[in-house]
Amino acid sequence: MANIGKELDLAEQYLREGDIVAIPTETVYGLAANALSPDAVLKIFEAKNRPTFNPLIVHTYDFGQVHYFVRHIPPVAEKLANSFWPGPLTLLLPKKDIIPDLVTAGSPRVAIRIPNHPLTLSLLERLDFPLAAPSANPFGYISPTTPAHVASQLKDKVPYILDGGEATIGLESTIIGFDENDQPVIHRLGGISLEAVEAIAGTCIFQTSSEKPETSGMLKSHYAPGIPLLLGNIEEMLPQYSPGRTGILSFARKYPGIPPRHQVILSSKGDLFEAARNLFSALHYLDSLDLEVILAENVPNEGLGRAINDRLERARVENKQ
Ligand code: TXA
Ligand code: MG
Repeated sequence: MANIGKELDLAEQYLREGDIVAIPTETVYGLAANALSPDAVLKIFEAKNRPTFNPLIVHTYDFGQVHYFVRHIPPVAEKLANSFWPGPLTLLLPKKDIIPDLVTAGSPRVAIRIPNHPLTLSLLERLDFPLAAPSANPFGYISPTTPAHVASQLKDKVPYILDGGEATIGLESTIIGFDENDQPVIHRLGGISLEAVEAIAGTCIFQTSSEKPETSGMLKSHYAPGIPLLLGNIEEMLPQYSPGRTGILSFARKYPGIPPRHQVILSSKGDLFEAARNLFSALHYLDSLDLEVILAENVPNEGLGRAINDRLERARVENKQ
């Protein structure tokens, strides 16, 4: 079993030696390695069982550092960075040669983020290299928002999990690239809502195609739990399933006739931030029960609700391979 602790020294030592460490961020836990070392980065792909055509986000602690890694920052990217970093925003920018091709899967653009977590920011400041880190789950599984999620999914594949508590946002970062006219293109909705992005950057282009996604989080079957998840009107679906073996993932209310421990309410007061924070934990929890099906419903499609609905859509049974 992986070692879980709060020792920055130990995390730093593993990373300096070219090993991987699970790190806390405000979005989800990441599986980190020296982004400038292809050998270290390869260990991430191995531990996650992730195809190497799938690029990784590079994490750093200060906007000043970003210039070492990218050739050009469009003015609108700078505005977004100033508004949301440190925070759940990832920018796709043209990379410098110092970033290995393995990190970007051969793409000329690198994904960069400054996470908003005090422990990880301290760790990044101690290191003289940035950290490549995808979410710390096996490829295609639910993202981890606690050290326990990481430990139960990756087991002994990660030597150390830096414990920074539960993720405060609970959804992966919002990923934004820029077209040839420097116009923002949203590749993945996440911890920053569309409304918040557009308030700073103006109207954005959406890259919603999941046929040939540039961003793997946009693969249709991502984030799926092991137990089939059906998304729709819970009340209408309920009568078809045996109450003792049915799990409920609801936005704000309980459903009669189903054991309370099989039901998770994302936010009883209907708060989308709270719902986002609870979403992946709820999926991990329901997935750990002896159930035949999970019945889930959409949340209001506004603010963070859009990203929550996106993750639910990708977790539903029709989208499992
Ligand atoms: O909040 C987050 O973004 C978390 C934390 C750990 O920072 N990370 C995360 O990483 O969600 P990951 O690998 O699970 O998702 C990152 C997404 C992937 O879908 C990947 O395809 C996309 O970002 N991505 C990374 N680099 C890219 C690039 N150069 N061009 C296009 N997409 C890229
Ligand atoms: Mg991921």
